[in-house]
Amino acid sequence: MAAVTITDVWKYYGKTVAVKELNLEIKNNEFMCILGPSGCGKSSTLRMLAGLEFISSGDVYFDDVRVNDLPPRDRDIAMVFENYALYPHKTVYENMANPLKLRRTPKQEIERRVRRAAEILEIDPLLHRKPVELSGGQKQRTAIGRAIVREPKVFLFDEPIAHLDAKLRSHMRGELKYLQRSLETTTVYVTHDQLEGMSMADRIAVMHEGVLQQLGTPEEIYNRPYNEFVAGFVGEPPMNFLDCTLERTNTGVSVVHSGFRLALTERQADLLEKGGAEADVRIGTRPDNLAIEPGADGALEVPGEVFVTEPLGGDMIVEVTVGSDRVMAKTKIGPMGGPGEPCRIGFDVDKVHVFDKTTGVAYF
Ligand SMILES: Nc1ncnc2c1ncn2[C@@H]1O[C@H](COP(=O)(O)OP(=O)(O)OP(=O)(O)O)[C@@H](O)[C@H]1O
Ligand SMILES: [Mg+2]
Repeated sequence: MAAVTITDVWKYYGKTVAVKELNLEIKNNEFMCILGPSGCGKSSTLRMLAGLEFISSGDVYFDDVRVNDLPPRDRDIAMVFENYALYPHKTVYENMANPLKLRRTPKQEIERRVRRAAEILEIDPLLHRKPVELSGGQKQRTAIGRAIVREPKVFLFDEPIAHLDAKLRSHMRGELKYLQRSLETTTVYVTHDQLEGMSMADRIAVMHEGVLQQLGTPEEIYNRPYNEFVAGFVGEPPMNFLDCTLERTNTGVSVVHSGFRLALTERQADLLEKGGAEADVRIGTRPDNLAIEPGADGALEVPGEVFVTEPLGGDMIVEVTVGSDRVMAKTKIGPMGGPGEPCRIGFDVDKVHVFDKTTGVAYF
């Protein structure tokens, strides 16, 4: 258990800047997810916390101890990678016991900790098996068990379940979250999978090109994205973005697109004025916040044309051509015309976001 503080941290590899001026405070016992696309600097950040990578500039503290110059073994961390590298000739028990043996922990204490970790991870019936006799998920649980027995101050996870199949991944998401809450250990969890971040973390740090884009709870990241990058990265299917112009009249402010005109609320108009918005903007709306109905004569305000429908069990994604663009709407499965048929869509204005077209920063 320790708070982790990252202040003004940079990471260079030669001329490549992997992490730029990162500031992040991870609270004691918090589950922090570092989320972002490939190459954004997630692993570099984690490896600097672990002591596996030199910090080019800036400081890292565990509580109030500066750890920049501490070797990994003195940092009291445990790390789990995507590639768990178990010892093939050792049993599950021996694999889990190994880090404690290396620390000359008394045998009884080793036994106690391994059995407890195995129980939590539900692999106690497998303790005598060799890795070759385990499924992918069981191997990964063994690797996690090996990290748990250390009872470290901080857990560092680098995409630990990325290679598992979808069903097992979803199961492990639940397990890891439960485990972290019951062990009460500060956790930094790196992933490119927004669903992992959204479902497990207390707070998410979204990174892009080495730069922290936004830090917030999953709810804040989803509902109040700081910029277009965060808005587009989180949520599945992704947010729709449409180039529009602002039209200011004495009755209010509207966004105008080739396929529709949408009157904004007073609150939204105020935020645009305060932000000094220019005429060209980009609006964003999530597929869940677009209503859709088949046919040309419905009550919804915007006419469109079905491009394609994708049934997903109970829900359906409908791609719709609106003016010169295409948007995705998510709806309950039901009758919807085939490609080329007319339909109507409706915006939930309160849930529309407007972004600066140049900087991508959200006005709301
Ligand atoms: N050892 C290295 N030498 C040179 N460049 C590196 C090294 N490790 C990482 N980089 C570069 O630093 C940047 C950040 O890499 P990093 O591994 O931190 O990304 P990541 O977010 O973990 O990506 P991924 O999701 O693909 O694992 C990338 O541009 C990468 O090419
Ligand atoms: Mg990585």
